[in-house]
Parts: sequence; structure tokens; C-alpha cells
Amino acid sequence: MEKIRRTKVTDVLKRTDFGATVNVKGWVRSKRGSKGIFFIALNDGSTIKNVQIVGEDQNFDESVVKLITTGACISVNGILVESPAAGQASEIQAKEIEILGACDNSYPLQKKGASWEYLRTVAHLRPRTNTFGAVFRIRHNMAMAIHSYFHQKGFFYFHTPLITASDCEGAGQMFQVTTKNLYDLKKDENGQIIYDDDFFGKQTSLTVSGQLEGELAATSLGAIYTFGPTFRAENSNTPRHLAEFWMVEPEVAFIDLDDLMDLEEDFIKYCVKWALDNCKEDLEFLNKMVDKGLIERLQGIIDTEFVRLSYTEGIEILQEAMKNGKKFEFPCNWGDDLASEHERYLVEEHFKKPVIMTHYPKSIKAFYMKIDDEKPVLNGQEMEETVQGTDVLFPQIGEIIGGSVREENYDKLLGEIERREVPMKDMWWYLDTRKYGTCPHGGFGLGFERLILFVTGMQNIRDVIPFPRTPGHADF
Ligand code: 4AD
Ligand code: MG
Repeated sequence: MEKIRRTKVTDVLKRTDFGATVNVKGWVRSKRGSKGIFFIALNDGSTIKNVQIVGEDQNFDESVVKLITTGACISVNGILVESPAAGQASEIQAKEIEILGACDNSYPLQKKGASWEYLRTVAHLRPRTNTFGAVFRIRHNMAMAIHSYFHQKGFFYFHTPLITASDCEGAGQMFQVTTKNLYDLKKDENGQIIYDDDFFGKQTSLTVSGQLEGELAATSLGAIYTFGPTFRAENSNTPRHLAEFWMVEPEVAFIDLDDLMDLEEDFIKYCVKWALDNCKEDLEFLNKMVDKGLIERLQGIIDTEFVRLSYTEGIEILQEAMKNGKKFEFPCNWGDDLASEHERYLVEEHFKKPVIMTHYPKSIKAFYMKIDDEKPVLNGQEMEETVQGTDVLFPQIGEIIGGSVREENYDKLLGEIERREVPMKDMWWYLDTRKYGTCPHGGFGLGFERLILFVTGMQNIRDVIPFPRTPGHADF
């Protein structure tokens, strides 16, 4: 076959120089034929759209035509022509076809309409479907949006370690990293494992968040962001949790709670707008096939001002709703962590808008959050201490962002670390930021997959990351 420089399908579909000889390569989505003519829908992943290849049986070896089956990989030389068919401007009249990779009928993506569950079992092939192609192209675009946003705003992309000796969230949900022989562990007289002879000479884990190192960077470079994988060994089998997920964590010096909320809102809107501007065809496909309200919802986010609400005000609204007959499965007394049904009520029923919730009880948030000067009052009664934490709650997703102003006061921070018995041995460096030229600062973490869920309208977090890690699942 004559060598002609390949044109991507996305580019060939934009060309109008009809009569030109082109080469396209890709995977056969479908082939049909009638009266000695065959039509191939060819996709190469560069776009949701297929290019139509038209050929006459008589011009090709029967043995080649037989191998043009769903899933097969082919290379086509042909003439770009205006298409008589509706829904496409151009098509390719095949002159030469080479089978690069045949595909027999054991191909797992043979049938249309396979369930999400089934497609997870063939995660190595599912990017070849329309939906997953769209999702992963959007995922790429969201990563670009994130870098673009922060770069424009003068934030530096800072790389924090994945292997760490500290537990940022203090929730004890870490995966250990060790080269020790698990069948022959050295222990002290109390049965505690001795790590002196382990690879790092101490106990280490995969990070749950880059925040602590991010704070070091913010208190020197001024404004930074991290964007990388994080790991949580929480046994949550929900459509919103992964054991390995990507998190975006900006951290900024000299900001207060209002600045932080402004940043959160502006950042999310920027990413959503990026999707609308850059992923039109994929979004139109998802809007048609996966979630009919998707594009309208995305547009709605950009046009809406997020509600800003204190935790205590949230509790008031929820208790008022219960008085008026609303039933919740879980209680919501001041001091309780809000269950997802409570968050959903506030976001989807009460406000019908994203909600940035603030000033949570200290007892349900992490040790590093700045303690509020005043205690809140509910029904005439003074409550416990609160912190300057913010969660951004989104329709259908729930918590998409968690962040806070950080406690910059050395004594207060140390007090919290001691009170909570956060292992201090490996935290001296973190406290040094408060010891040497401490400054007000804050930041947040956005769950990248939760953003992708929102932007694609997909229902399960396992379907917006190529190879999901969840309890019991680490295939591919
Ligand atoms: O609220 P989280 O635990 O906050 C932190 O880790 C802070 N250190 C962030 C910071 O202030 N720099 O997690 C942040 C976000 C959540 O709002 C959620 O979107 C996402 O990370 N997230 C998860 N996403 C998928 N699977 C999980 N298991 C997740 N846990 C948290
Ligand atoms: Mg959180």
C-alpha cells in the first residue's frame, strides 16, 4: 500500500479540499453493505465522530473485506469526497485498505448497550466506546483547564511526595509502603513492628493529600497548586469514593475565608466553562445518551452565584425542614457530620444551587483548620468551637471541594496536634512554618474525579477514571 501521511479523523472531517488523497487509520465501529458497496464507520479516538469509508467490493480482495469487522484496526487510502448522506459533510472513497489488526467475534465490545458494570470488567477496551472516549477526552481537557487557570493566576505547580511519613487528614486511612518481608517482621517486646531496617528507616505510607507540603510551598512561593494522585484506604463502596484518586490542591498565603471561597467558586466555574467551550461534541453526545439535563446544568453553574452558608445556619434549615415533616434517615444535631442526604437536601431541594458551607464544629474537622474567635449560637444557646473550614457541596455530587484557612498560630496548632494525638515525631517541619515567619494562609482540595462526574453527567466515579481502584478491585 502506498505510504501517505496519516490524517486524524478529527482533522479529516474539517477538510473541504474534496478530491484530495488522504490516509486515515483507526478502529472499525461498524460495517454494513448492500449491492456490492460497503460502508465502514471508522474511529481513531481523536473525536467522538466517525469518518465514513465507502468501498466497492469488486475493488478489494475478498479476504481483506472479510477481515473488516467490528473492532478491527485498518489503514485506508482514499479520496476525500463530499458526502451525499445526511449528518456528515464528507466521506472517504477507499482505494486501498490494509488490515493492521484483525478482530474476531470474541471482541468484548461487539454488542451495543452493554451495562456500565460489564464495561468495568473490560476497562482495558472501554475507551474504544463512544461514552468512554468522550469521558476521557473531557478528563484530559479538565486537567488542561486546571493548569491553565492556576498558571494564569500566577500559581506555581508544585510537586509533593507520594510516599510520606505523615497522615495529613489524621484519619488513619493510609496504605503502607514497605519492602519488609511480611512473613518475618522484626518486633519489639510489646509486639510493635520495628521499622529501622525498612527501606526508609521508618514507617511510611502513600499520601492522602499533598496539603502539608503544599503549605510549606505557599509560605515561600506565595501561591502554589498540586495536582496528582492521592490514596485512601477507606472501605467506602460508594459511587463517589475511590482508593486512588486525583486531587487538585491550591494553597495561598495571605488569604482569608472570603478570599478562599471566591477562589473556589471562580476556579470551578472556569473549569466548567472550559468544558463547554472545548468539549462541545463530547458534551452533546453525553447530553443525548447519558444525561439529558447535562449541558443546561453546566451552563447553570456558570450563571449562578453559589450560596455561602455556615454549618450552624445549615443545621437550622435542616431542623426547620424536619419540623415541617421532612424525614431523614440520620439525625442532624449540631455537632454531627452532615450525611449526604442532608447535603443533598440543602443543595438540591432547599437552595437548588451549589452551597459553600463554612464554620464547622472543630470536632468533625482536621487538626490544621483555623479556630474561629467566636462560638456560634443556635436556638439561643452557645455551641462548641468552630473552624474556618469550607466544603463546596454540588448537586448530585455532594462534596466536591474540602478546604480551610489554616491555623497559623504555633501554640494553637501544637495544642490541637497534641490534643488529637497526631503523631508528632514526623511533623516538626510542618510546625516550623508557624515558628519562622508564620502567615495567614489557606487552601482547598478538589477531587478531580468528582469534577469529572459533574462535568460528564456520569453516575459512578469508577466510570470517570480509566482504571479504578476500589476495595477488592485493582485490575489492569
Ligand atoms: O475533604 P478532603 O479529605 O480534604 C483534604 O484532603 C484536604 N487536605 C484538602 C486541602 O485542603 N488541601 O478531600 C478533598 C476532596 C474532597 O472534597 C473530595 O472531592 C475528594 O477530595 N475526595 C475523594 N474523591 C474520591 N474518592 C475519595 N475517596 C475521596 N476522598 C476525598
Ligand atoms: Mg472533606
